[in-house]
Amino acid sequence: YPLQNLNTFGIAARARQFLQVESPVQLRAVFDDPALRATPRLILGGGSNVVLSDQVDALVLQMCLKGRRIVDNNDQRVLVEAAAGENWHEFVLWTLQHGLAGLENLSLIPGTVGAAPIQNIGAYGLEMQDVFDSLTAFDFMTGEMVQLDKAACRFAYRDSIFKHDYKDRMVILAVRFALPKPWQARLAYADVERYLSQRGASDPSPAEISDAIIAIRQAKLPDPAKTGNAGSFFKNPVVSGAKRDSLLEVYPTLVSHVQGTGDYKLAAGWLIDQCGWKGKHLGRAGVYEKQALVLVNRGGASGADVRALASAVQADVLAKFGVVLEVEPVFV
Ligand code: FAD
Ligand code: EPU
Repeated sequence: YPLQNLNTFGIAARARQFLQVESPVQLRAVFDDPALRATPRLILGGGSNVVLSDQVDALVLQMCLKGRRIVDNNDQRVLVEAAAGENWHEFVLWTLQHGLAGLENLSLIPGTVGAAPIQNIGAYGLEMQDVFDSLTAFDFMTGEMVQLDKAACRFAYRDSIFKHDYKDRMVILAVRFALPKPWQARLAYADVERYLSQRGASDPSPAEISDAIIAIRQAKLPDPAKTGNAGSFFKNPVVSGAKRDSLLEVYPTLVSHVQGTGDYKLAAGWLIDQCGWKGKHLGRAGVYEKQALVLVNRGGASGADVRALASAVQADVLAKFGVVLEVEPVFV
């Protein structure tokens, strides 16, 4: 089954078996079939955070469950739920259209609602965990439906239990978000603040923040419909204060942000940029010319091409700065 149109990198991968999941009943049927249950599985949402091999030797389950609703509304928060197959950005817009604020900083992130908890999506001063309430999943170990709260999901920067203990086990069916009241604008990210103040928007509405973030993202990130990519290809590395100070001595323009722990998060895009990779390529895979943290498909790239470029970038950053870059998307 062809997967080229189902992954934003545009890799011409093929799946051994493929099933569109529109109801949890179908997962139960896969579970109840001994042969299918034993087959390796790949859960696929919008394919915007995967780097596929040319041959995916698995049963690909594409999550197509639909539905969004307001579950509860009180003085402290409004609880909204969306099914795993809903498009994330359309869900954000739907909440805003219903006068529900709180997700606007995560506007225009590609992919599905069901994948949002996997890496705890984040952007422009908000992480999904800040507004996460709970989720419903199908457990392939027991065949049961389970409810998981925030603590159970062990969210961290671009991380959750679904990348570790629950990898290949839990299929997320629906996610609930608690949007706090009263709403407070999150404008701490320098790009957002600058964009809005340049336009004289001193007291922006949720919709204005959403529009600003859409514009900032469109100026900086490649549109997967035109250029294959998976967003940031590496996580921003976290280093000790001592390491950051020693780098700063040699590189006074180093971009870093202090963390609660006293460690520093470095801008991986800056490190890659300094190595001279921006706009460069290795075969059919390249480094985006406007944002060095994004690797792109220059046309016809295979998973192996992308891996080769990623390794070359990692090697150069390690040699120049002594910093290890961890990949962010899921390699299949
Ligand atoms: P997929 O790529 O289909 O899957 C990703 C992983 O989640 C896989 O391991 C898959 O098996 C698993 N998975 C998917 N659905 C389920 C489910 N229902 N149950 C269990 N497992 C599941 N991310 C950010 O955090 N912030 C950003 O600002 C951001 N910007 C991006 C910009 C661009 C242009 C692109 C292409 C990507 C960007 N990303 C960003 C990455 C991506 O959008 C997110 O990781 C998104 O959540 C992936 O959703 P998806 O449905 O496409 O997941
Ligand atoms: N920078 C450079 N050169 C570059 C790219 C970036 O010098 O080529 C510098 C920028 O000038 C800036 C800093 O690096 O000072 C950070 O850049 P940016 O604001 O673009 O953010 P980022 O750290 O590269 C992260 C997330 C994005 C998210 C944005 C906004 C990670 C791995 N990436 O990128 O998430 O949208 O912040 O919050 O944390 C994704 O995960 O796929 C993704 C796109």
